[in-house]
Amino acid sequence: MNDQQPPEAALEELLEEARRAALNSYSPYSGFRVGAALRLTNGEVVTGTNVENVSYGLTICAERAALVQAVSRFGPAIRVEAVAVANLNGAPSPPCGACRQVLAEFILPDAPVIFPAEGGVRVMPFSALLPLAFDMKQVSGVRNSSHK
Ligand code: THU
Repeated sequence: MNDQQPPEAALEELLEEARRAALNSYSPYSGFRVGAALRLTNGEVVTGTNVENVSYGLTICAERAALVQAVSRFGPAIRVEAVAVANLNGAPSPPCGACRQVLAEFILPDAPVIFPAEGGVRVMPFSALLPLAFDMKQVSGVRNSSHK
C-alpha cells in the first residue's frame, strides 16, 4: 500500500481486493458471492470470502473468514484499520450483525468500512455500524461484582 494516496483511493483499492476475494466464494446454496478485505495497522491486507455449508447455519461469512485469516497469519495483536466488503451480485451487502461483533474485537473504532449500498458504495466508521458493542467492560464488571 502506498501511504501517499488519498484515503478514498486507498479504500477503492481495498474494495478491489474484496472483489477479487469474492471470485473464490463457495456459495452453491445462496449464489451470493461475497469478499472482504481488511487493512491492518501493520500494513498488511488480508482477504476472505464466504464459505457455505449444506447445514446452512455453519456458513462462514467473508468478513469473519478474513478476520480469522488475519489472526492466524499475524497473531492476536493485529488491529484492523479499514474494511471493504464487496459482492459479485450487484446487491447491497453491509456486514451482518455477527460479523460486526466479531470485527469489534480487533478493529479501531474509527476504522472506515466501505460496502455496497442502495445506489452505490457507502463508507461508515465502524463505531456507527455497531454502537454499544458488547465488550470486556461488561464481562469484567460481572466478574468483579457478583462472582466473589
Ligand atoms: N454473507 C457474508 O459473507 N457476509 C455478510 O456480512 C452477510 C452474508 C454471506 C453468507 C452467505 O453465504 C451469503 O452471504 C448469503 O447470506
